[in-house]
Amino acid sequence: MNKNIAVIKGDGIGPEIVTEAIKVLDKVCAKFGHSFKYTDVLMGGCAIDATGVPLPQETIDICLASDSVLLGAVGGQKWDTLPGNLRPEAGLLGIRGALKLFANIRPAKLLAPLASACPLKKEITDSGLDLVIVRELIGGAYFGEKKTYTDDKGVKHASDLMTYADYEVERICRVAFDMARKRRGKVHSVDKANVLDSSRLWREISHKVAAKYPDVEFSDILVDNCAMQLVRNPGQFDVLVTENLFGDILSDEASMITGSLGMIPSASLGETSLGLYEPIHGSAPDIAGQNKANPIATILSAAMMLKYSFDMSAESDAIENAVTAVLNEGYRTADIMSDAAGLKCVSCTEMGDLIASRI
Ligand code: IPM
Ligand code: MG
Repeated sequence: MNKNIAVIKGDGIGPEIVTEAIKVLDKVCAKFGHSFKYTDVLMGGCAIDATGVPLPQETIDICLASDSVLLGAVGGQKWDTLPGNLRPEAGLLGIRGALKLFANIRPAKLLAPLASACPLKKEITDSGLDLVIVRELIGGAYFGEKKTYTDDKGVKHASDLMTYADYEVERICRVAFDMARKRRGKVHSVDKANVLDSSRLWREISHKVAAKYPDVEFSDILVDNCAMQLVRNPGQFDVLVTENLFGDILSDEASMITGSLGMIPSASLGETSLGLYEPIHGSAPDIAGQNKANPIATILSAAMMLKYSFDMSAESDAIENAVTAVLNEGYRTADIMSDAAGLKCVSCTEMGDLIASRI
């Protein structure tokens, strides 16, 4: 199959990790007889430097015309003092919005070879840790009306409106229930319905959707309790569905209990097969350019692209199996290195080479 992939390398470690993911995708092409064409586009800090804005229109146009988008990471100290709408992160939110990617899929799975990197006690993870966070991605406080002003008494105010429409809740809940059907058949809807109106609407609509999936076990959970249960008994969760900001926070927590932020991929999906695939970690400017970054989350994001956008399950599995094989052989990047016997610390490029060679 021929596919066009728009590539946003971004800032910090972005270019290094994306290069390794492309190395692995090229190996998949060679093995399975596909041909992928990559088009580099600018977004984030590098786009600000080159064009003055974090998300040039040309980038949106090329992404919309592609079969999918692969993204590294954006942001860095250099651009931290710019106003909110001109920061690199505004580019990321802008592309999610422009491509109408309302569903962000963030799997958190404890891989057996990394069990020792998990900060939880062994008896907590003995029952397994394999969950998916389905995060609403283009609504809530991220996209609601924003205001910063000083009132006539000289007091400064700022607000970010958290707003949801019924159809936005309904479509993300459907994604979660459909996903649960392909997994262990369980959905927790995470909200703060004891306090927030937006959560009360969320709860009402999620129950309506749940009624259409009688085969899926369904419960509500308050977000504070959920944050606690993730470290107390993460094995109880299969699919968690939640609004944008809660999902941002809970997915960082969920990734940490799997051992490393550097391991978790994500897929952002809309109504069509066009998706955006990115690691959930940031641009790590402190280690940029040192060939130390962990490319696995980006490589696993490329695997998600094959599965969700290109319907290439065997190819996607080949990448996941190659990652597990390399970890089983004891290879680790610095972030997942420990003093356990038999481990070998490798660079970003070596990790990419190893994974590509196991495909
Ligand atoms: C994420 C990131 C982004 C978000 C930032 C960089 C805008 O934290 O993808 O989780 O908050 O969505
Ligand atoms: Mg985040």
